[in-house]
Amino acid sequence: MQSIDLKSIEFFQNPYPTYQLIREHGPVWVDIDEDYESKGLWVFGGYADALELLKQTNSVTKNYAAHKGAENTLTYDKHVLNQDGSSHIKMRSISKDLTSKNLPEQAKIYIKHEVDLLKEKILSLDREIDLVKDFAELLPVRIITRIMGLPIEDANLFLNPSRNIIIDSFNLSQDDKKARRASIQFFQEYLSSLINSNYIFPSGSLLASYLKSEQSNLISRDELIANAAFMINAGHVTTADLISNGLLLLLTHPDQLDLLIKKPVLWPSAVEEILRFESPTQRTTFRLTKSDLCIAGKSLSKNTQVTVLLGSANRDERVFKNADSFNVSRNPNPHIAFGSGIHVCQGRSIARLEAQMAFESLAPILKKVSLSDESLIWKNSGFLRGLTTLKVQRV
Ligand code: HEM
Repeated sequence: MQSIDLKSIEFFQNPYPTYQLIREHGPVWVDIDEDYESKGLWVFGGYADALELLKQTNSVTKNYAAHKGAENTLTYDKHVLNQDGSSHIKMRSISKDLTSKNLPEQAKIYIKHEVDLLKEKILSLDREIDLVKDFAELLPVRIITRIMGLPIEDANLFLNPSRNIIIDSFNLSQDDKKARRASIQFFQEYLSSLINSNYIFPSGSLLASYLKSEQSNLISRDELIANAAFMINAGHVTTADLISNGLLLLLTHPDQLDLLIKKPVLWPSAVEEILRFESPTQRTTFRLTKSDLCIAGKSLSKNTQVTVLLGSANRDERVFKNADSFNVSRNPNPHIAFGSGIHVCQGRSIARLEAQMAFESLAPILKKVSLSDESLIWKNSGFLRGLTTLKVQRV
């Protein structure tokens, strides 16, 4: 078998040939320099393998804190994605408004307002437009700021710290680890001081509802801070990539863009295809086996780390016909860009709504611009798939 390198620049720029090899040959072992017991992990790339692994609840854990020992656990580590069992159910329950009727309805109003503002701003620019920096990065951070109930003028403060936290853990340098710790500290201090001030979180916001959960002793202050910080990070970094990846795909597939303009009912299915074709989260976070286990014919002993390549599963020909072609009419489209199983993304309806409203609103502009530079640079990450810039000029 050809050698497989999930940490190379070539892989980050185009991971799909490597994914195909993994699907053909089965799971691969990747060495990583992390603080956990196993200095590496098994990586699964097939769609069926992914579902098999992600449906495991009792035989794998996300709770690394229990493994590392409580004294080494940061407050931030107490968020929902690091929990199992009843603690996980409790942490998910405090954010249930994300999938209720009221919050998405309110989010629609925020999204319309913010999309209109950003669109007006980019139309007034007398320079080249960077659809990443001038639009895709700004919209989701402003929306999650409003959903949380934080002061909107603080939205830009979250951009860099969130990027320092949600990073590719295959490739962490000492500097990355330092920046990550400092960014976690930033969020903890920011949220603590806002909560301790006289600031009133708007009714219906997630932070107002977290505070109620704390008052009724459902969660501790540490759990509140951890979940609020995680929700801010998770709520914008990946959605920014979904929007920029989608804008690129629409610009480079003008026939599909024309079809969408002619048949707007296809927009929801276009969003699903963008999520499948260039999945913003290419891998799940790590899991640790709690007992000896066999997944996809691979025997794993207790305390082995594993992960799933969502971006590979979503290109699996055994499930998606012509998986390497972008087809906004694809139906059915059972992609797993939001993960699967008990940790499936809790913000998925908000992310879908944001992306659809952004694409529909920018579609007429996309018809009047062309890419400034055809040599696009993807982020140097095997975890998040997104563009560093997407510069366009008016034609
Ligand atoms: C396109 C945008 C998004 C993508 C691709 C995405 C992807 C994912 C994935 C793959 C997971 C599961 C990770 C794992 O199993 O290791 C996840 C979990 C999660 N996401 Fe998202 N996400 C997006 C947007 C959002 C937004 C907008 C929010 C909040 C408003 C959010 C909140 C969460 C939360 C709270 C979890 C943890 C759920 C749990 O542990 O039960 N995500 N997301």
